[in-house]
Amino acid sequence: MRPILFVTSQLPALAQQRLEALTEVKVVQHASTHPISRPELLAAVSTADGLICVLSNKIDAEVVEAAGPQLRVISTISVGYDHIDLDALRRRGGISLGFTPNVLTDATADTTVLLALMAARRVKQALQTVAAGGGGFSLSTGLGSQFTAKTLGIVGLGRIGCATAARLLPFGISRVVYSGSQPRDDRAGPLNAQFVSFEELLRESDLVCICCPLNERTAGIFNRRAFAIMKPTAILVNTARGAIVNQDDLLEALDKGLIAHAALDVTVPEPLPGDHPLVGHPHCTILPHIGSATEETRNAMSNLAIDNALAGIKGQALKAKVDL
Ligand code: DGY
Repeated sequence: MRPILFVTSQLPALAQQRLEALTEVKVVQHASTHPISRPELLAAVSTADGLICVLSNKIDAEVVEAAGPQLRVISTISVGYDHIDLDALRRRGGISLGFTPNVLTDATADTTVLLALMAARRVKQALQTVAAGGGGFSLSTGLGSQFTAKTLGIVGLGRIGCATAARLLPFGISRVVYSGSQPRDDRAGPLNAQFVSFEELLRESDLVCICCPLNERTAGIFNRRAFAIMKPTAILVNTARGAIVNQDDLLEALDKGLIAHAALDVTVPEPLPGDHPLVGHPHCTILPHIGSATEETRNAMSNLAIDNALAGIKGQALKAKVDL
């Protein structure tokens, strides 16, 4: 009998073709763009040898405990793995965890720059003006700001943080500061980036980009206290995880003018209900978690996840493995 590879989502076209052509495993798939239901997920892991999942699938202790003894690998199509209970996997033992670093760095950094420019140049307001039949050249209205001679603050100088800073430097940024759990001299050198405390980064930066993973150290760090330290002209961009920002505190900060604009690719929940006050807020731009959403990147992520899953099922080394 062939091992079962359960896939919780429809893949992008090219990767889907590859998945359907696999012969060494029996592919069972929730082939839908709608999220898999909890009962379907729990039933799937009880018989699967390998699981390919996405970040909207919560792989908590209940799912891990529902897994049959044959489950050898969980392979998430994401670089972030905060949706997976690592402690539950450690307790259970014998299940490898694969993820998809590197292949989404460029696309996500591109989206971070896109949001930074949208915020700085007040694109939300400009689009609304045009949609309302207004607009036309005006010397004195709709004016944004530019990055020339400004300070960029990167929260988390990992792969995406570095790629974001490298893209923004040619816009004339004069200083890059970064915060995180430790200095990253290897990464900071080429960017001439300076390691500072989180408070200093908040105080000094004109543009703050959140590029760190969500974990117990970063959950909710952008809160009332943080917004009070930031410049009233500062722009905040988040392409990491919504829960790094306390959204109630962000709303208050935008209402009080503590910061100028927030541009978010990630929120809690996703999607944010259309009537949430941040959605229509003039100083908040929201995208629907499209950081890595290019044909090239989503196929590369899916292919890496397939590679990881197949390796895990065969008991081989995963191409990209989370150390448990
Ligand atoms: C990830 O992979 O973690 C991103 O948030 C989605 O591409």
